[in-house]
Amino acid sequence: MASLKISGGNPLYGKLSVQGSKNAVLPMMAAALLLPGETQLAGCPRISDVEAMAEVLRACGAVVRWQDTVLCINASEVVPADIPAESTKRTRACVLLLGALLARCRRAVMARPGGCAIGERPIDLHLYALRKLGADITMLGEELLCCEAERLTGGEISFRFPSVGATQNAILAAVLAKGTTRIHNAAAEPEVVWLCRFLNRAGAGIAGGGTAHLEIEGGRPLHAVSFEVPPDRIVAGTYMAAVLSAGGEALLKRVCPEELSAVTKVLSAAGAVIRRTEEGLLVKKKGRLRAFDYLCTAPYPGFPTDMQSQLLALAVCADGTTVLEEKIFESRFHIVNEFNRMGADIYLDESCAIVNGVRVLQGGRVEARDLRGAAALVVGALAAEGTTIIDGAEYIYRGYEDVAGDLRRLGAALNEGE
Ligand code: EPZ
Repeated sequence: MASLKISGGNPLYGKLSVQGSKNAVLPMMAAALLLPGETQLAGCPRISDVEAMAEVLRACGAVVRWQDTVLCINASEVVPADIPAESTKRTRACVLLLGALLARCRRAVMARPGGCAIGERPIDLHLYALRKLGADITMLGEELLCCEAERLTGGEISFRFPSVGATQNAILAAVLAKGTTRIHNAAAEPEVVWLCRFLNRAGAGIAGGGTAHLEIEGGRPLHAVSFEVPPDRIVAGTYMAAVLSAGGEALLKRVCPEELSAVTKVLSAAGAVIRRTEEGLLVKKKGRLRAFDYLCTAPYPGFPTDMQSQLLALAVCADGTTVLEEKIFESRFHIVNEFNRMGADIYLDESCAIVNGVRVLQGGRVEARDLRGAAALVVGALAAEGTTIIDGAEYIYRGYEDVAGDLRRLGAALNEGE
């Protein structure tokens, strides 16, 4: 188990450029299977989820290689290889290959992804959407899902919940379906918008990206593209939280401020100084933060669930009480026990964490069990008295390209260890 060792108390100063977005590039990697020729994803983050997805694309016949920071995917030849459990459990975004392989090869066989530390993660909405486009879905044995369609045809899809992944899977299948597909109650997250932009650049006809209603004109000829991976809004938000925890002032370059508006609004109301400059976003801690009172996660443009843990890490030492309600995933409070072992005062009540701010945390040995929980423990450890060792650091490498290097460059006392 990998660990991070952090000595708290160093304020952070300097500039850093935010990496490419994990949750934008993974769907683009799946979409590359639809595109004959070599697609180039510039500014692709070198994170373990991307490496894992690349392995699965290679198993499906794509040639995937790095050229500096550009990930090149040649999908001239694609075969519908069965996608095994170790891939789908390891990288849940593999589920997006159902739509892509069904569209390109008319067949996709995949082990059901199953749950993870933050929740059951069902895929019923994904399967509902693919069936609406003509897929025949059966089980092969206990674990393997088999999706087949002689020809996908456009249809009407109405989601009961605006699932990001199910919306992306529906888009990936619909772009090669015969006829028009309309998706209602679609997810409007930036990562859906970027997938639409990527596919439209490749020749698709998708309208309504970023709204709840998408219209996809299927069957247009698609071609490989070169595309710049957008900056990761959650990594940017995490580094904002790191500065507001440790103290100091930092300039984050390569940020889309409008994608972070729900986060910056909450942080500014708590006393953070956040200002747009021509270079990016300036973040400065000016005295102790005020508590967030009540914060509830919601689909975009609401407060993002992927920033809930990092804001909890700030609430533990804010002045006053914060009620954090997690409405997207059913078990995203694993770090509560870890923070309480560092001296925090948090208790859980159903889907809420009630956080009474304390003066300071005490360093100790804690364990992460999911990606954003690991990031939150780093945020908390930066301000804690003494040294904190975070076990389970391998989770953070799934989404953060160089969190240790980035924070050390800003002045953090942080070492990686086994
Ligand atoms: C994406 O997951 C992100 N992952 C998640 O980021 C993010 O938290 C989530 O969207 C919400 O923004 C990637 O993009 C790779 P959902 P996804 O489908 O698509 C339920 C991170 O830390 N649901 O919008 O799986 C589901 O159980 C990760 O980077 C169904 O019930 O999210 C959950 O409660 C974590 N049936 C809710 O919807 C379905 O078929 C939101 O899930 C699908 C989802």
